[in-house]
Amino acid sequence: MKNLLIVIFLSVFSLGVQGAGSAHPMDHIDMDIRDKESLQKGFALFSNYCFACHSLKYARYERTADDLGIPHNIMEENILSGGAKIGQLMTNSMSTDQAKAWFGSSPPDLTLSARLRGPDWLYNYLRGFYADAKRPYGVNNVIFKDVGMPHVLAGLQGVCAEAPSLGVEPVVDPLSGNIIKSSGCSDYLTEGSLSPAEYDEAIYDLVNFLTYVGEPSRVESEEIGRSVLIFLLFLFIFAYFLNKEYWRDIH
Ligand code: HEC
Repeated sequence: MKNLLIVIFLSVFSLGVQGAGSAHPMDHIDMDIRDKESLQKGFALFSNYCFACHSLKYARYERTADDLGIPHNIMEENILSGGAKIGQLMTNSMSTDQAKAWFGSSPPDLTLSARLRGPDWLYNYLRGFYADAKRPYGVNNVIFKDVGMPHVLAGLQGVCAEAPSLGVEPVVDPLSGNIIKSSGCSDYLTEGSLSPAEYDEAIYDLVNFLTYVGEPSRVESEEIGRSVLIFLLFLFIFAYFLNKEYWRDIH
């Protein structure tokens, strides 16, 4: 009995635990994996900017297309490359040895990254690059110090001249209504094609997609869970009246 209690206690209280975080303050986001438009945009960003280096080898093209509401022919024409078939896993062809030589460490598979690191970590990491001439690719990262990954989204975000502030509560000037302090980059070395707000939104979509891909059946499980609860509720009503009926003549 004591062991059972310990197991129940641990399983309840370990639900919210997320892996290796960062000591750095971070901005928080709430994911919405039912928002298909956001997931599609995130997936498009992933395939354009990340897939060359990072695989999603525990997910299949077909399932992803179906879950995100992407017709198979569009998926085949735009995303599948190198003769891949829609039923295949989303692997890529970068060899680990080559990657090690180029980046110092090989780009990890990202299927489970949102579960390992947590969405907040990813959201801040992808907004945490800044110029650092001492690093091989000229950038460093606030959340992942001395990271081997280049700032592949520099064309969208621009390159921040110094470490951006993250996890800062926005402070609004009560007189003018302007935001005088908030998270983000205060000075850009080169400009990107997106505004800071648009970039944050793009990263939100990308992290939303990575959250979905880490647990593709989550929406379905939640729906099944809801139906089971409704069923139990109905069953309870019947059981309640049946119980009353049984005991009617005894009391
Ligand atoms: C040019 C190759 C390349 C591209 C493109 C690239 N990355 Fe990376 N990425 C790397 C490398 C190399 C590492 C390993 C860095 C290290 O360990 O120092 C890495 C690490 C990461 C990590 C940290 C993983 C962990 O938990 O340690 C995340 C998250 C990540 N990349 C996300 C992305 C996303 C999202 C994109 C697309 C916007 C992207 N990467 C595009 C090369 C790349």
